[in-house]
Amino acid sequence: MTVKKIAVIPGDGIGLEVTKEAVKVMKKVAANHGMQLELEEQPVGGTAYDLTGTPLPEATLQACKNADAVLLGAVGGTKWESLDFSVRPERALLGLRSELGLYANLRPAQIYGDLIDASTLKKEIVEGANIMVVRELTGGIYFGQPRGVEIRNGERVGINTLVYSESEIRRIAKVGFETAQKRSKKLTSVDKANVLEATELWRDVVIEVSKDYPDVSLNHMYVDNATMQLIRAPKQFDTIVTTNMFGDILSDGAAMLTGSIGMLPSASIGGKIGLYEPVHGSAPDIAGKDLANPLATILSVGMMFRYSFDLAEAEEAIQKAVITVLDQYRTGDIMSDGKKQIGCVEMGEQVLKHL
Ligand code: IPM
Ligand code: MG
Repeated sequence: MTVKKIAVIPGDGIGLEVTKEAVKVMKKVAANHGMQLELEEQPVGGTAYDLTGTPLPEATLQACKNADAVLLGAVGGTKWESLDFSVRPERALLGLRSELGLYANLRPAQIYGDLIDASTLKKEIVEGANIMVVRELTGGIYFGQPRGVEIRNGERVGINTLVYSESEIRRIAKVGFETAQKRSKKLTSVDKANVLEATELWRDVVIEVSKDYPDVSLNHMYVDNATMQLIRAPKQFDTIVTTNMFGDILSDGAAMLTGSIGMLPSASIGGKIGLYEPVHGSAPDIAGKDLANPLATILSVGMMFRYSFDLAEAEEAIQKAVITVLDQYRTGDIMSDGKKQIGCVEMGEQVLKHL
């Protein structure tokens, strides 16, 4: 029997609740595919800070490095917002991405079942939209040096640096093209090449890489226009490849096409070990009340089976179960008329029932 080690790091807020449900689903799907899981749970984010004084303790990092895949809930919360920047919960996430070499973040936005009614956009605009955002994850302005706040001419100055090397662009561009090849062979590269030199280079390198993928049709868009197009006519997009910060912003936008950010899973890949997490945050306002939507985390488990364990059929089984459940049941964030509203735990149970 195949044995896989999974590091489970629930994090903060609703992260704790949604991972619990996702772990149940993960165990069941593994069993269905003759796989045995060894789970190691470790704290991360604010919870880890409270316990150890750091948001990414060594034991947590080691557990992730020793695992075959990592399942993360969410980090952050009002309680930790005033902490020094260096120990904020979000630093753990950035630390993990960079320590594990996870330079590619895949964020699929698609509409499950008749969830279309939960979208704030008109049905005919979003119906059938299916977008994969490929976000660069370990470079750009999130990591560039110099950074910080310093005194210049007697006043405080905040500094961040947008920097991309051609090798960083080339490797994420390849992920973009390869992802597009497995979908409908259409790739949109999003940049701000009219203003930022770093993304002018981005565009040049993406064009160079495109020579190796003649079957994929490539177009380029400035990020401001891409934002508008995403809301105006989302169906024109298939795969989007973009920088760390533009990807952060565009993926939240893409999420809302699907009805709720509570539905969006993600996979961070590129290193030896993949990390899977919902796109939503820790939602401190609803944490601990059994109100959270666990489906994004459950769908992230699906992505884990596909990308880390090469079991696309396991992901399909999870997606199918989710669609079936949505037919009758909803959490508050995606509630619509005629459906039954349930909590986080029951949503998990319902998905399990259909696996
Ligand atoms: C995301 C989040 C993170 C990011 C934060 C929590 C650091 O917004 O994963 O999209 O900006 O990357
Ligand atoms: Mg974000």
